[in-house]
Amino acid sequence: MTRFTYSSASPAEVEADVVVLPVFEGPEAGPGVKDVKDIDLLQAYKDAKLAGKRGESLRVPMFGEIEAGGVLLLGLGKKGEVTADTLRRAIGRVASSLAKQETVATTLPQTLPRAGEDAVQATAEGLLLGSYRFDRYKTSPNGTEPVALKEVTILGSGRSDSRSATKALDRAQVISESVTWARDLVNTPALEATPDYLAKEAQRMAKDVGLRVKIWRKNDLERGGMGGILGVGRGSANEPRMIELEYTGGGRGRPIGISGKGITFDSGGLSIKDAKNMETMKCDMAGAAAMLATMRTIAILKPRVNVIAAIPSSENMPGGSSIRPGDILKHRGGKTSEVLNTDAEGRLVLADALAYLAEQKPRVIIDAATLTGACMVALGEQITGVMGNDDTLIRDIIAAGERAGEPMWELPLFREYKAQIESNVADVKNIGDRWGGAITAALFLAEFVGDTPWVHLDIAGPAFSDRAGDYAPRGATGVPVRTMVEYILSQAGSSSAKRR
Ligand code: BES
Ligand code: ZN
Ligand code: MN
Repeated sequence: MTRFTYSSASPAEVEADVVVLPVFEGPEAGPGVKDVKDIDLLQAYKDAKLAGKRGESLRVPMFGEIEAGGVLLLGLGKKGEVTADTLRRAIGRVASSLAKQETVATTLPQTLPRAGEDAVQATAEGLLLGSYRFDRYKTSPNGTEPVALKEVTILGSGRSDSRSATKALDRAQVISESVTWARDLVNTPALEATPDYLAKEAQRMAKDVGLRVKIWRKNDLERGGMGGILGVGRGSANEPRMIELEYTGGGRGRPIGISGKGITFDSGGLSIKDAKNMETMKCDMAGAAAMLATMRTIAILKPRVNVIAAIPSSENMPGGSSIRPGDILKHRGGKTSEVLNTDAEGRLVLADALAYLAEQKPRVIIDAATLTGACMVALGEQITGVMGNDDTLIRDIIAAGERAGEPMWELPLFREYKAQIESNVADVKNIGDRWGGAITAALFLAEFVGDTPWVHLDIAGPAFSDRAGDYAPRGATGVPVRTMVEYILSQAGSSSAKRR
């Protein structure tokens, strides 16, 4: 485990294997660069033909000139455009090489003196998340040496508040551990990560952090009328589950209800996917993993709010007992759906969980799901699609996403398209026409939340990536854990939204 400390020492006197110092476009020296008196670091950076653009980094050995072994000059781009997310991304890109050192110090947060806590938190997150790797199944290390990083010192200016910085560091650590856990759950192959595995992981986590947990097994799901979760799970040898978690943080306030799609593998079922489209479908429980990680974070940070989670998990497989196109399922609460495409399964399991949450009269419901390829077509691989029935909630979630560095964009919950999911034989059908698939999927979900303010996050694009990001290797990203935590903390008045 990496230890974080906050200090107002000068970069010239701090003991560390490497000190990371920012450079702006120009290049122009950032905080701390001029503190190293006997070496002209900016000249060395210019000599290497670097201009301070984002990602342009240069390692300079110090040969005993200062306490630290070396300096890493890190380009941040235009000075006026630096945000907390710039810091997260910049340090994230060099995090895996920094993680080979035992001690690292940095002045990065000093570039944003007015966003002190956010800058500190983002810097720590970039470092921790950027050094993530998933090597559990590698029997030989080949290039994946273990993380050596023991201590990170955040160098603040004398003016900044060390108590709030220390809190920001604690928060960053808890959040990063949770995101790491979510990534691990998603990256774990479906052979191992079955619905029962997810449930057991949830139970273990709940015990660790002190959350109430209830696992709904097949019998419970039958008694509870969860026809969607059961129907989707029918073709699989691995029984479905629903994970229910409760956090009580005080007050009489109604809880925030959260849910996440937990399809541990999506083969498409009888409406089977082709080989290419099936390759990454272990990622189809990323929404579930993110909500589990959110509950873990909240249980540790203890904001004054109440949160309940109902997380459905099934494996979508073809088999002799699979549901077939044309079958009708009865969901929690009694509504029926006609399954015309067994590959539109996420909405079927979420319907039960959302209906169940709505019964608990929460103040809002938020769900996250790798729901539609259509959302990826609309917004690409990095942006979460946001749809819902409440403008304030939508605005608050998108704002939380922006503070957390998880970009989101609203798509309309266009009611006219509801005609597309009208069924001849059931209350709704599970697919619409070819176009607007993210919207018709959301309209399907909307049928099950009643009049509860609700927002749906389609994370099919950003949850899992074939390309490495600035602070995530290929594979699971942990989206939208940071947004969810930021939103929930803001509801309790303890996030950066209220600090501003
Ligand atoms: N899990 C997929 C959506 C998905 C696609 C997630 C790519 C991540 C990456 C979902 O269950 C699905 O198959 N959706 C279908 C819906 C269609 C049959 C209406 C889709 O998007 O093609
Ligand atoms: Zn799916
Ligand atoms: Mn599917």
